[in-house]
Amino acid sequence: MRTNIDFGIDLGTTNSSIVKMENGKPKVIKTDEQFETMPSCVHFTQRKSVLVGKKAVNALQIDLKQALKTFSESKTNTFSEFKRTMGTTHLYKSSNMDRSFYSEQLSAEVLKQLKSMVLDEPVNAAVITVPAKFKNQQKEATIRAAKLAGIKQVVLLNEPVAAATAYGLDAKQKDGYWLVYDLGGGTFDVALIKAEDGILKVIDTDGDEWLGGKNLDEAIVDQLLIPYLQKNYLITRLLADEKTREMLRAVLKIYAEEGRIVLSYKDTHTFVSNLGDLPNDEHNKEMELDVDATQADMVRILGPLYQKTIEITLALLLRNNLSGSRIHALILVGGPTHSPILRKMLKEQVTPIVDTSIDPMTAVATGAALFASTIPLENVVVDPTKLQLSLDFEATSVELKETIGIALLPGENSALPAEVWAELARADGGFTSEKIKISEKPALIRVLLLPSQPNMFRIRVIDHEGNAVLSQPEQITIIQGIGIDEMATLHYHIGIGTFDSGENRELFQPVPGLEKNKKLPATGIISGLKTRNALLPGNQENRLVIPTYSGEYNAPGTDPLLNNLIHEVVITGLNIPQELPEGSELEITIKIDRSEHIQFSAYFPLIDHTEDLSIPVKNTDPPTAAYLEERIDEAIQTANHIEAYELAGQFSDIKNRLQLEKGSIHGRFNILNDLRKLLLLLDTEKRKTVWPELEKQLTEEWNQLKKVVDLAKGDERINWGIVDGYMSDYKLHVPIVLKDKDIKRARHYIDDMYFTRYEIVNIALSGELDCDKLKSIDGVFNSFSWSDPQKARQLLNAGLQDCNSGKADKAKDTLKALYKLMPQKDREKVEKK
Ligand SMILES: Nc1ncnc2c1ncn2[C@@H]1O[C@H](COP(=O)(O)OP(=O)(O)OP(=O)(O)O)[C@@H](O)[C@H]1O
Ligand SMILES: [Mg+2]
Repeated sequence: MRTNIDFGIDLGTTNSSIVKMENGKPKVIKTDEQFETMPSCVHFTQRKSVLVGKKAVNALQIDLKQALKTFSESKTNTFSEFKRTMGTTHLYKSSNMDRSFYSEQLSAEVLKQLKSMVLDEPVNAAVITVPAKFKNQQKEATIRAAKLAGIKQVVLLNEPVAAATAYGLDAKQKDGYWLVYDLGGGTFDVALIKAEDGILKVIDTDGDEWLGGKNLDEAIVDQLLIPYLQKNYLITRLLADEKTREMLRAVLKIYAEEGRIVLSYKDTHTFVSNLGDLPNDEHNKEMELDVDATQADMVRILGPLYQKTIEITLALLLRNNLSGSRIHALILVGGPTHSPILRKMLKEQVTPIVDTSIDPMTAVATGAALFASTIPLENVVVDPTKLQLSLDFEATSVELKETIGIALLPGENSALPAEVWAELARADGGFTSEKIKISEKPALIRVLLLPSQPNMFRIRVIDHEGNAVLSQPEQITIIQGIGIDEMATLHYHIGIGTFDSGENRELFQPVPGLEKNKKLPATGIISGLKTRNALLPGNQENRLVIPTYSGEYNAPGTDPLLNNLIHEVVITGLNIPQELPEGSELEITIKIDRSEHIQFSAYFPLIDHTEDLSIPVKNTDPPTAAYLEERIDEAIQTANHIEAYELAGQFSDIKNRLQLEKGSIHGRFNILNDLRKLLLLLDTEKRKTVWPELEKQLTEEWNQLKKVVDLAKGDERINWGIVDGYMSDYKLHVPIVLKDKDIKRARHYIDDMYFTRYEIVNIALSGELDCDKLKSIDGVFNSFSWSDPQKARQLLNAGLQDCNSGKADKAKDTLKALYKLMPQKDREKVEKK
């Protein structure tokens, strides 16, 4: 009977696989067709049965070809690549089933199929891998998929970590930096890992969620196959219509992938279509594909896409102050890494030490299974006829000797022999420990491990007469050669949204302590926040909303769209025992455990109250075309405004793409992904152009204010209590703002310090500055949109007279009264003067 999870599953975009531990060794389970991986493809038949894997792919191809031949939209009953919409509310509609499915429901079908391939035992627990870039919503949806498939105990593991585990176990060199380069069907992931005596630690990760084999196939279709058809046949109308063009591309992609895989092993290939697969052209001539391709063609067509992954990899190294020469192993994972062209490029540009020792298709699932072999099964039914043991040991070890604590589980063993002895026997028969008497107090047993592999030990228990006593658990496993305790790290930054009244919208604020690559569990605290409105106890209508984000971009005061909204935490009057006025201080603590579950608490110092709130992670809605368009237009405007014309052009390109792809859910997600990347560049550009000027203004304003305060010292008309309070706030925060290059707060402090300086000078000059303002209003009186021009004129005349007759101190009241008669925008004009 198994005591550990022992099953690892790679739930991939294109292919999935399952590996189980058998006698301490990982074993890949084969599909019915005897393949080691199974396509992540689901088909519902007319008779409402479900086909998963290769059979579903065949059905899909038949459907696509049929649809193209008749130019009728195929009824969608086959689904693939649904991992891309994991954690969203997108539904896939099946006409045969007469209903729709979420990604997680389709994924559950894939998992059920994988489970069914294990013929001799049920799979009730598994380690399932997810991309390092997966967000909380996507992870939660994966867990739900597993539960739907009857996997009761689910542990998630990041794909690069799993691959590194599989690699690390056999690695001869257990020290240094490793790069896991995983190019899959739909995504590219790269992870930098540091190994020290076999103990692995994730240093940094990056990737592109929308770059994989699919994109390679599309490039072949667009740059090789369609141009061939255009040259030999008349297909102008077919290509002009978006729908028929997509139908053609879909069928051509089948040939593209086939050929691309052949070109991983052979120098040349001819892309040939099956008779009757393609429709007749516009002269009614039967179309046929017959294109010769060489490696040089692949370099031209696929090279730029491979190069994109290399750029991401090099950038990752650079920001960690490393170069390719410091990398000890580049570990290849994912189908497309079979390509000799890609391998050559990696060797030339990253490191010659490209390691192909692990199978790129099954490494992830294998690593998951190894990891699974170290995690005990939960909720094992207690068998009262067996001796209940408690064991204490490290599941992974880089030592050759380990000490295991063994004890009787207190209170569980009353009906069993009072005196028992235990020994541990290694499964290969090469080692048996000493026999030791055990009680409720832990006894220590030393064991010897075989290097670089999982070591299974059977626990043999005997009573005082030497009779065997069955125990629970009856065996344990320790993996020698690797340490993966340090592998749980945060793969993105965590931040919250705070409302900015200046920009009149919400901006991102990072939570200190929860930066990307922090080891988990981690805690972050953000203090100095102010509540935007009052909360009355028991009043549900009074709400504070605190959006919580995760993402790649950690600069304070930036557009939250750059990151991913996890959840909006809502605190209402129901959450507090006492009244809390507007502007009260608030401190937020966010804790993230090893499985990346988030716990949120808000502390209000004024009433000394802490409120703990859980963060339910719900599926998010996919972006709508209108939303994307609005954000793109905004970006174009900003880019033009700061004269970043090239960027503006790139945003326009995205807008054009949106027009073409807005009907496709995957297309919209892809566009959102690219839009985020460009917005990031725009933000950097904005900082580059805006920041130097702001920095100068902020420093100047601060120096001037200090000068004015020194000069005014001793003037008793000034309320020094208030001024000193302001000054110590500036003294504390201005250097921080300068250090963080915080645009938003820089603007705030420039304005704030200006007003403080203005008030001091105005009082010192007995109101002269206010008089100047009145005069300036007088000069442009008619340009203002007064609510009551006549009254304004009277007030202004009286005020000007006060100024001329030595009563300048009255000007402030006149100004205030005038402000009430003009709209906000006019008022700002006067104040800015
Ligand atoms: N020998 C080969 N040469 C080139 N490409 C290959 C080869 N074998 C498979 N592929 C490609 O690999 C891709 C699938 O890779 P893989 O199974 O690693 O992806 P996945 O794990 O499902 O996806 P992801 O990791 O993005 O979720 C497909 O695009 C397929 O065409
Ligand atoms: Mg994969």
